[in-house]
Amino acid sequence: MAKKVFAEPYRIKVVEPIEMTTQEERHQYIKDAGYNTFLINSKQVYIDLLTDSGTSAMSDNQWSGLMIGDEAYAGSENWFALEKAVKEIYGFKYVTPTHQGRGAENLLSTIMITPDTYVPGNMYFTTTRFHQEHNGATFVDIIIDEAHDSAARHPFKGNVDLSKLQNLIDKVGADKIPYVSLAVTVNMAGGQPVSMENMRQVKELCNKHNISVMFDATRCVENAYFIQEREAGYTNKSIKEIVKEMFSYADGCTMSGKKDCLVNIGGFLAMNDEELYRKSCELVVVYEGMPSYGGMAGRDMEAMARGIYEMVDDDYIEHRIKQVRYLGEKLIEAGVPVVEPIGGHAVFLDARRFLSHIPQEQFPAQALAAAVYLDSGVRCMERGIVSAGRKKDTGENYMPKLELVRVTIPRRVYTLSHMDVVAESIINVFRNRDKIKGMKLVYEAPQLRFFTARFEPLEPWKEWEGTI
Ligand code: F0G
Repeated sequence: MAKKVFAEPYRIKVVEPIEMTTQEERHQYIKDAGYNTFLINSKQVYIDLLTDSGTSAMSDNQWSGLMIGDEAYAGSENWFALEKAVKEIYGFKYVTPTHQGRGAENLLSTIMITPDTYVPGNMYFTTTRFHQEHNGATFVDIIIDEAHDSAARHPFKGNVDLSKLQNLIDKVGADKIPYVSLAVTVNMAGGQPVSMENMRQVKELCNKHNISVMFDATRCVENAYFIQEREAGYTNKSIKEIVKEMFSYADGCTMSGKKDCLVNIGGFLAMNDEELYRKSCELVVVYEGMPSYGGMAGRDMEAMARGIYEMVDDDYIEHRIKQVRYLGEKLIEAGVPVVEPIGGHAVFLDARRFLSHIPQEQFPAQALAAAVYLDSGVRCMERGIVSAGRKKDTGENYMPKLELVRVTIPRRVYTLSHMDVVAESIINVFRNRDKIKGMKLVYEAPQLRFFTARFEPLEPWKEWEGTI
């Protein structure tokens, strides 16, 4: 019988007090931050759901690993522990460490991409596409259409549309495609998974044309859970077995250890090809450090090695996914428009439907993230037109179909009571949605503008009573 009530599969040994602020204070803080939640100081935040990146709580086992940090410049013991963990769990032959995911993206894109090529992928991710374009490629979205529809309830919304991939190969030729970039799960689509069958099919098609398949492995454990839950033939397989099979359909991967690996910093590039490994060792010393630390301290590598074994624990990942879903279902019950099905790392509010009176050019998701902060001090993130940025050739704004606010759950950090508070606040904002007005952009950086952009409301917002 399925369990109705579930609880954290850990107990709390250390606590970090958090402070509440008044709505009046938050008015000032959000104004000072140019209505961009990235620019709010952490101390001004009550429940921080900006990201699940680098925000995990480490276990006692990981903390104890910090004490055996071997801080040698070369050949650290902790590097060998990390290398062993990656080879064992992900199954690749070679590993190059990096300080975080985008360090690995930089290495991979610099080595594999030549100008005037095309990198197909299952929806863009901000830093991933930046590195691809920076090296002269054009990103081509080959995700299934359902992924762009927040209400479409496909169980594997991250899947590649094989005909889109085939059409691109027919149009530009396989030699113009350095690799296919496959994210498991797909962050910008709402943390949506890719099915094992789809991974197998992508690999088969690419093998036929001699194209490499590179995974963005950032949240692959979450993907594995969805496969176990939803795909025929995997119910009785362990998360560890599923993860291993997933990577058998990849030639390599980039990884942000700051997510699945339960650490605050770290990443890697992994692969089976010896020459790619050699080139990555040549380049890593330029950008990151020796091939035996790649920008991480010895203690960071030890924590990550231990986190890699913890992340494939079946109870841990079941709880993680269910905690995110718990929040999502509370919002759905109250009629709040969210991306469905609820994904792996976050609940995504659909700002198009939430604030249907604000056109996309007036940044509804940016306004909504600011409004949630104003209401309760809960911090979340815009994932819409601001994050999508501008087209590299024309400079025009991308107009993504998905105009979302990501309410991201850090791993092992918050309890179900925190989720209740967050739901209450978002529901309160939903009831007061007509008081929120559009924004104008007053500053933007030439690339990855969402991190530092500043905004002002087009007209004053009407006051409402916040939940805290
Ligand atoms: N790929 C995906 C799918 C990501 O979500 C991220 C980071 C990266 C690559 C880059 O990794 O941050 O370690 O350099 N995502 C963070 C987020 C920033 O909040 O979603 P990184």
